[in-house]
Amino acid sequence: MPSQVTTMKKRDLLSIADLLPKEIQGLLNRAIEMKKGAQSQCLAGKSVAMLFEKPSLRTRVSFDVAVHQLGGHAIYLGRDEVGLGNREGVSDVGRVLSRYVDAIVARTYSHQTLEALASYAAIPVINALSDAEHPCQALGDLLTIKEHIGGRLEGLTIAFIGDGNNVAASLALGAAAVGVSFAIASPPGYELPEQVAKQAQDLARTSGAAIRQVRDPKEAARQADVVYTDVWVSMGQESQGDQRRRDFQGYQVTPELMALASPKAVFMHPLPAHHGQEVADGMLEHSQSVVFDQAENRLHIQKAVLELLLDATG
Ligand code: CP
Ligand code: NVA
Repeated sequence: MPSQVTTMKKRDLLSIADLLPKEIQGLLNRAIEMKKGAQSQCLAGKSVAMLFEKPSLRTRVSFDVAVHQLGGHAIYLGRDEVGLGNREGVSDVGRVLSRYVDAIVARTYSHQTLEALASYAAIPVINALSDAEHPCQALGDLLTIKEHIGGRLEGLTIAFIGDGNNVAASLALGAAAVGVSFAIASPPGYELPEQVAKQAQDLARTSGAAIRQVRDPKEAARQADVVYTDVWVSMGQESQGDQRRRDFQGYQVTPELMALASPKAVFMHPLPAHHGQEVADGMLEHSQSVVFDQAENRLHIQKAVLELLLDATG
């Protein structure tokens, strides 16, 4: 059994709303320090299992490198190795991994799988993307916005163009928590889930931000500080691909749409991108695009997240 882990209350990161607004700000500040070179060996002697049901480039590599840079050891477990819920039930996987490692970074299809894993694991479980949320992405995104816009986040506006998906949900909740307004333009049937929109509204009331759901991408983009988009077809939705590509016509981020935003606005995308679908060819290379800084920042913010959650469990 990992040292002391089961005697102290463990903490998970399943939703970005698991973090208090001041904790989000603390993580952003710590990630900035780490990006500037602050060192920590807080994972020395510790191991982290990375349990992935879906493919990944950024999340897998940035977590592996983050654990390594913090002095720990990461073990990647892909879909075929574990057979989560198939070869072995989630409850048993959670309990067994808790006897070997100090944290689980998990990418699942259903968010319920993640919740079940966390409820059986005696160690922190970090959401590396589920169908409902992608909190580490949103934290890295807020870091990128803070870095590029400079100064305070409060009072800025993000225009999200497209699907009210996992990435949109975490970004809406994270933005609302720290006082960043969030306007999402989506076609009918692809809005933020009702419960997420309500939760974001509640957070926004406290922080002074505004959450808006609109149809017209231009309306969302006008004067925005960030223009953000994500794929129209997320992992696991491939069978709806043709329908979705039809429904999202007109929701592409183009240089013309970008020109409606604030002159200092940045263009963001979590990647992978589908050029010619949600983004016009050349958007990643646009002078206002920060997508590769955004990808890099996953590493810095995840080091801060690991430090927060693993320090709390000793
Ligand atoms: N943005 C992101 O999470 O990328 P991966 O799916 O490659 O991890
Ligand atoms: N919404 C996308 C994000 C990938 C990082 C998906 O779930 O596939």
